[in-house]
Amino acid sequence: MDVREAFLAFFESKNHTRVASSPLVPDDATLLFTNAGMVPFKSIFTGDIPAPSNPRATSSQTCLRAGGKHNDLENVGHTARHHTFFEMLGNFSFGDYFKEEAIAHAWEFITQVMKLPVDKLWVTVHESDDEAEEMWKKHISADRIMRLGDKDNFWQMGDTGPCGPCSEIFVDQGAEHFNGPEDYMGGDGDRFLEIWNLVFMQYERNAKGELKPLPKPSIDTGMGLERAVAVLEGVRSNYDSTLFMPIIRKVEALIGKPYDYASGASYRVIADHIRTVTFLLAQGTNFSNEGRGYVLRRILRRAVRHGYLLGFSKPFMFEIADTVSELMGKQYPYIVEKLSVLKEQIMLEEERFFKTIASGIELFNEELKNTKETFSGEVAFKLYDTFGFPLDLTEDMLKEKNLALDTGTFETLMKEQRIRAKAAWKGSGDTAVEGDFKTLLETFGINTFIGYAYTKAPVKIQALLGENFERVEQLHTHQKGWV
Ligand code: SER
Repeated sequence: MDVREAFLAFFESKNHTRVASSPLVPDDATLLFTNAGMVPFKSIFTGDIPAPSNPRATSSQTCLRAGGKHNDLENVGHTARHHTFFEMLGNFSFGDYFKEEAIAHAWEFITQVMKLPVDKLWVTVHESDDEAEEMWKKHISADRIMRLGDKDNFWQMGDTGPCGPCSEIFVDQGAEHFNGPEDYMGGDGDRFLEIWNLVFMQYERNAKGELKPLPKPSIDTGMGLERAVAVLEGVRSNYDSTLFMPIIRKVEALIGKPYDYASGASYRVIADHIRTVTFLLAQGTNFSNEGRGYVLRRILRRAVRHGYLLGFSKPFMFEIADTVSELMGKQYPYIVEKLSVLKEQIMLEEERFFKTIASGIELFNEELKNTKETFSGEVAFKLYDTFGFPLDLTEDMLKEKNLALDTGTFETLMKEQRIRAKAAWKGSGDTAVEGDFKTLLETFGINTFIGYAYTKAPVKIQALLGENFERVEQLHTHQKGWV
């Protein structure tokens, strides 16, 4: 079954308008990335813009959870169900239907379209929500409904924005594969898989943390496409589904070592991260040392480190982008259009990190020998500053060893470096110029600035520098740099 299509068609049959996915970088300064299907509709929920003439919508929204309130980065590869990039299937009511109909639609889709066996299904409601519990009792027996608190059953987009109590649908995947201590509903285990969250949007949280009622109670639901596909295919992890296995097979083919679930976390991290990197680049975010571009860089470098663990010693991620394009290009044609450019961007970024990764890991391993519980902040800073290891990459490596990091010292060193960098720019005389800029200055001498007198002038491009002042031969579309 094509779950995405089945979902959208089902809600169209319930008079919803099908809306295309919005970009991963939202038009919303309070968010780093679009982290849920409702994000593009936020201002409709809050009443800041009027609802469309049809107050019902449905979408399959590309989402990214790698920072901010909803951040799944650390879990990726280590659980069966977390991703940085994923697609969220949703149906929305802008002040039209509310709880009763949202519950009835979801139940119909789950049991009649997806045909999931009722004896495997459970639901949760907010502990205060008697109404939702009564409505669920029309569909499922009372002993399958659990009440949970705010942590599990109150959803909000970010620190501010629309929010409300929610009700979640779970599939019990069976004790035969899962029986860890966290395998209870609302726990961190994978046995009870939450596949759909129905949010009863009723409030907007302001910057002071206060809840103010929305103009009209509304509905926002979200079902993870990857989870839905995995459940339908009867596999124990999203990564075992047809959405991810071809990517994992590609990694296997490139490195020539077989994947197995128990020891395959690195394959899964790579499979997750290549989708994120491909989509962000295709949508115009570039590798950078700050903001969203730095999240992109961190994700790529995290994947490269896992590749290095598997035995890769030269760029490989760019080749896997082909598989992402094969799998998703039909739904998202811009990936196919941008493929050759983004592959080159990935390859250059990989090359850059492969130059320093071995020495960085050697330094890390040396320092491990001196570490009892807490890893040196100074070494973490050196890894960051000299070897290009983002802090969270070092933290990730330490987590694998159950070690903490002296983040205090790291932060102090970062602060000092920022002050130094500022002072260098302020001075801006030739003595403060660093890196390849300095070499350029020695080679070509000082340029005369003529921009006050002319807006056009014949010039000769003498050199190009990348974002980090390194000399490059080419600058590519969307890449930042210096001419
Ligand atoms: N906004 C809710 C979530 O992300 C439901 O779509 O879970």
